[in-house]
Amino acid sequence: MGKALDGVRILDMTHVQSGPTCTQILAWFGADVIKVERPGSGDITRNQLRDVADADSLYFTMLNANKRSITLNPKTDAGKEIFTKLIEECDVMVENFGPGAIDRMGFPWEKIQEINPRLIYASIKGFGPGPYDDCKVYENVAQCTGGAASTTGQIGGVPMVTGAQIGDSGTGLHLVAGILAALFQREASGKGQRVTCAMQDSVLNLCRVKLRDQQRLAHGPLTEYPQYPNGEFGDAVPRAGNASGGGQPGWIVKCKGWETDPDAYIYIIAQAQAFSGLAEAIGRADWLDDSEWNTPGARLPKLAEMFEEIEKWTMTKDKMEAMGILNPLNVPCGPILSMGELAQEESLRQTGTVVEVDHPERGKYLTIGNPIKLSDSPAEVERSPLLGEHTEEILTDVVGLDPEGIERAREQGAI
Ligand SMILES: CC(C)(COP(=O)(O)OP(=O)(O)OC[C@H]1O[C@@H](n2cnc3c(N)ncnc32)[C@H](O)[C@@H]1OP(=O)(O)O)[C@@H](O)C(=O)NCCC(=O)NCCS
Repeated sequence: MGKALDGVRILDMTHVQSGPTCTQILAWFGADVIKVERPGSGDITRNQLRDVADADSLYFTMLNANKRSITLNPKTDAGKEIFTKLIEECDVMVENFGPGAIDRMGFPWEKIQEINPRLIYASIKGFGPGPYDDCKVYENVAQCTGGAASTTGQIGGVPMVTGAQIGDSGTGLHLVAGILAALFQREASGKGQRVTCAMQDSVLNLCRVKLRDQQRLAHGPLTEYPQYPNGEFGDAVPRAGNASGGGQPGWIVKCKGWETDPDAYIYIIAQAQAFSGLAEAIGRADWLDDSEWNTPGARLPKLAEMFEEIEKWTMTKDKMEAMGILNPLNVPCGPILSMGELAQEESLRQTGTVVEVDHPERGKYLTIGNPIKLSDSPAEVERSPLLGEHTEEILTDVVGLDPEGIERAREQGAI
């Protein structure tokens, strides 16, 4: 079966997490992704957080599936010639080096456009143009500067970063959208363009509902926040523990076994439409005839008390049992699933969201496959490449070098 991006070739100058997330998805859509790595060392994550001696780390293998690897130093003379040819032969170049790194290699955007006017040049940086545009940025810096940390955490507690990599992987996903839009526009215009995503912007985009609440604050307290009605609201959106970000109240409550199992919890949303089923299930049918409880407005000042009552019931059930009872009642809820449970979850294996891959150095490992499912372009996950595994193949087939040319490049330390 063909793939959505068959015939699209990506010059992948990415490293660490944000850029590789983007190019891995493009590879799963069928693009030929050529990952350019520094001769001798490659992407720094090959060596980071290693669990198996002398084998590429999971950090690397889980972000670089379905790619080809070429070692190349574009700062050498032979490297510049090869890099120029790769720009000519590719449709998209993606990079997430520190600000100015590609320019310092001798390839500013103006020159790239001259070499290949059809090339789409996509970059991730920590910040957009402005006072911080020359700063280097990692995940948690983006979470802190994009509004996620100030709005996450316990009430009255320190700002908190989340385990979801919204700065790195989140920005990579934003960049995928930009690249695909630019490829589509190129169909009509015949021209490439620059696509840029700043990590701060992407995190802020994902925190959109918090900027909504910032503006609502000017018109009174945020009534669905746990601080209402007894707590204080300052000038900015406060941290709200596990409160739901939407118009329907939600909270995490304990389930049977919570004393010893750190994940024996369930998230329950007391959605107005399903409230009668929830009240009956937890043994509080009396709420339904009580004007102190039977409307969302009446419950609003008593959400903490309401979730305490719900918790009394959930503590008598394990989390899957509670879900099994509440789901048929249309009560939105979700057990807190640990990574151990997700790794074993059969339905995720069936859909290819969790995939087992074999690797020549490290043996079998689990990775997360393409979460975006295309009916006519299913993703088949292939292991990540070894450093420089495809150097000669790419130099021959894409760059057009003969064996003598390859040898010359090798002697110069260009590959
Ligand atoms: C992630 C980040 C902080 C890492 O910083 P770093 O490890 O110091 O690396 P940098 O990207 O700043 O620099 C890479 C250097 O390697 C060089 N390099 C990269 N690939 C090379 C290659 N194939 N051959 C030779 N040199 C190479 C670059 O030219 C650059 O050198 P220079 O700064 O001397 O010009 C930084 O890349 C960054 O801010 N990126 C943008 C935001 C981002 O994506 N962050 C999240 C990453 S998950």
